[in-house]
Amino acid sequence: MTALHIQVLADLEAVSTRGAEEFLGCAQEAIAQRGRFLVALTGGSTPRRLYQMLAEDPLRTQLDWGRVQFFWGDERCVPPDHADSNYRMAHEALLSQLSIGPEQVHRMEGERPDLDQSARDYQNTLARVFGVASEGEPPAFDLILLGMGSDGHTASLFPHTQALHEKDRWVVANEVPQHSTHRLTMTYPLLNRGRQVLFMVTGAQKSSTLREVLEGPSDPERLPSQRLQPTQGKLTWLVDTAAAAELSRRS
Ligand code: 6PG
Repeated sequence: MTALHIQVLADLEAVSTRGAEEFLGCAQEAIAQRGRFLVALTGGSTPRRLYQMLAEDPLRTQLDWGRVQFFWGDERCVPPDHADSNYRMAHEALLSQLSIGPEQVHRMEGERPDLDQSARDYQNTLARVFGVASEGEPPAFDLILLGMGSDGHTASLFPHTQALHEKDRWVVANEVPQHSTHRLTMTYPLLNRGRQVLFMVTGAQKSSTLREVLEGPSDPERLPSQRLQPTQGKLTWLVDTAAAAELSRRS
């Protein structure tokens, strides 16, 4: 059973500060032990402040960014310069501020007409960078950042969608009828191999869903975030007091 750590912090700024500490600690340990840090970034609005903090002194100077490989947990089906692009948000808030090369940044190509091929190509990129077979067991990210929607989705694993049932592929195209769109997303087999999985959830609008996900009965078809149970890694939830308002326990 995954060791579950829930930290309740005052607000988004405090969650972002704590998240930046976790990011740097995880990165420094990975680089010390394995010479590099492989991270899957999340999209949405919550992580923007965390990315900005990492891009600013003093935190920016605390990591050898040249040893980091950046991936994304999911992407919208838009070009990389689109306002909705998860890549664009991370590029603006963090990557553009760092002295890194293009070979360190692995964008999901959500703009391609053949999304299934784009997902397959991303899996091949993952295999190449991690140095593993592209059809075998998923590789283990050092850190996977995730958010949670008020519907209980994470990455682009939305309630009652096909990607929830993927058992072999690491990345798939997922039809999301509730938003009349398709997404590219990492799947549970890859996400649950993470050495550390870090959720950041803030805002009162998520309080009832967070209680259901963390304390309610198992219902991962309706609450996909519930199935983030890293097989060997550490699972941490950084939540603010507004999102935690309905939780009965802290751990
Ligand atoms: C995305 C994210 C998604 C996000 C949640 C929470 O592409 O939108 O990957 O899973 O983490 O929707 O989004 P907010 O941080 O904006 O609440």
